[in-house]
Amino acid sequence: MWILSRYADIVSAGQDWQTYSSASGNLMTELPGRAGATLGSSDPPKHDRLRGLIQHAFMKRHLLDLEEPIRDIAKQVFGQLKGVKEFDFKDVSSQFTVKVLMAALGLPMGDEAIVPEQEVRDNAVMMVQSDARTRAKGPEHIAAYNWMQEYASKVIAMRKAEPRNDLISNFALAEIDGDRLDDREVLLTTTTLIMAGVESLGGFLMMFAYNLATFDEARRAVVANPDLLPDAIEESLRFNTSAQRFRRRLMKDVTIHGQTMKEGDFVCLAYGSGNRDERQYPNPDVYDISRKPRGHLGFGGGVHACLGTAIARLAVKIAFDEFHKIVPNYRRTADQLPWMPSSTFRSPLVLNLTVQSP
Ligand code: HEM
Repeated sequence: MWILSRYADIVSAGQDWQTYSSASGNLMTELPGRAGATLGSSDPPKHDRLRGLIQHAFMKRHLLDLEEPIRDIAKQVFGQLKGVKEFDFKDVSSQFTVKVLMAALGLPMGDEAIVPEQEVRDNAVMMVQSDARTRAKGPEHIAAYNWMQEYASKVIAMRKAEPRNDLISNFALAEIDGDRLDDREVLLTTTTLIMAGVESLGGFLMMFAYNLATFDEARRAVVANPDLLPDAIEESLRFNTSAQRFRRRLMKDVTIHGQTMKEGDFVCLAYGSGNRDERQYPNPDVYDISRKPRGHLGFGGGVHACLGTAIARLAVKIAFDEFHKIVPNYRRTADQLPWMPSSTFRSPLVLNLTVQSP
């Protein structure tokens, strides 16, 4: 496995899908059957077709329609913290994430729910993990992946029987010029959307809270002026993004910085490292919310750039808007944190915070 760690090299590789292919899987430790089958793990033209159909489905479910439901979810979830003196941020961020994703994708909730919300979250988080020692997928990770496929297939059947204006209905029935997805494509892509959404959004909320609980000055600034939240979010996506690295496979030999990587070799695009490249960002190890880090790699780049950027930015902003109304002043209780065992994603498993007086 080769690692591209410089900003410019990662950007070039992300655009050159003919050389840096995703069709052998993009997760550092890939799940069985996923390579070649989803938009994240395929190359154009298949990738573009899947992406077009999903974008089409996303457009129909307008983002503006989601703003109010997301705000209601945030008020309800973070409202539980009134009067609380110490808590694990994971407990609230995971509730918020699953509810938002369920609303955005159109997963059955409330009276219509077919499984408890927390089970969806737990399985999504488990399926992206790998064994901390062997770095391979263990039976518990594969079981979670199978659980998610079974769950997704039940939801797809429900939505096909009675379509609504939600992402999964639109996606399962999406058609461009008579072209439709087959059942396996719908199933694996829906499974991936749930996984990508829950893990990425949940993980990033934890990283953002971790940064604000660590850098007092930044927290005080965004609490005093919530209009600064979008800048702080972008800087967090640069400084220590939760989606740290993805892989590609070489379709031909490539020589770079005097080293020849061979056709068939795997290459890691180390987005987290590119974001700290001093050639691109001066003083890269400083968390500076006034930086406005244009072109950061927190959402990747090139043909596979994240499809959930708009909803992720909106959800994180609303979450912290509402969280700070209840808890404006907080600190971490521990220096050392337990981190998620994953070769692709990075976020703390637990983030205990104490509430300080305002
Ligand atoms: C802050 C939260 C998020 C972060 C940091 C993030 C990060 C990323 C990154 C780095 C990639 C590139 C993967 C690669 O290079 O192979 C990606 C792709 C993707 N993300 Fe996100 N993501 C987030 C939220 C979401 C959400 C909420 C959704 C869905 C609702 C989503 C759906 C996707 C999809 C479908 C792809 C694959 C796109 C393609 O291959 O064309 N993401 N994301």
